[in-house]
Amino acid sequence: MSQPPYEIDKMISAKSIAARIEDLAREIEREYAETDKLVVVGLLRGSFVFIADLVRELDLPVEVDFLEASSYGDGMESSREVRILKDLRGAIEARDVLVVEDIVDTGHTLHHVMALLRSRNPAKIHTIALLDKPSRREVDFAADWIGFSIPDEFVVGYGIDYAQRNRNLPFIGKVRFVEDAS
Ligand code: IMP
Ligand code: MG
Repeated sequence: MSQPPYEIDKMISAKSIAARIEDLAREIEREYAETDKLVVVGLLRGSFVFIADLVRELDLPVEVDFLEASSYGDGMESSREVRILKDLRGAIEARDVLVVEDIVDTGHTLHHVMALLRSRNPAKIHTIALLDKPSRREVDFAADWIGFSIPDEFVVGYGIDYAQRNRNLPFIGKVRFVEDAS
């Protein structure tokens, strides 16, 4: 599927993201100070850059696991039907868990994933999302930590894609469609 022509306007610099992650890491260290068994769960694929930077900033014993939930196809609209495409490798019963997401948009993904993970009886479970678009919410969901709250713009970069592209940009940018010259 091909996309109409677009440009990317820088919204959050790599430097701002790094500074924010340092602050968030200190808060997370306080919350999990007592733990000897934190499992950091990244939601694939959008969180892979964020989780890599976040865990390297955490001065805690951490294990890393991944879960993949589907919501978007190649477009810009959430399908609202969340399916688990790849489950965790490890059990989380009685473990302290931190779920790492790229963006909370409609809220369906995290709402669904958290219900599933809670049913496995972790000792403690919290969520962190790099970005939050509160104006887009369709189900009641609030992450415990948010990197940046942003307006209703479609964003890419720092792990986040548009039709699988632009995940490798080091910053967060917003997609702006331009007139097709042809
Ligand atoms: P939700 O279920 O609507 O909250 O969707 C969350 C997921 O939708 C995120 O993990 C992203 O993968 C995707 N998503 C939401 N907003 C954007 C965006 O602006 N750019 C790219 N992906 C997005
Ligand atoms: Mg996602």
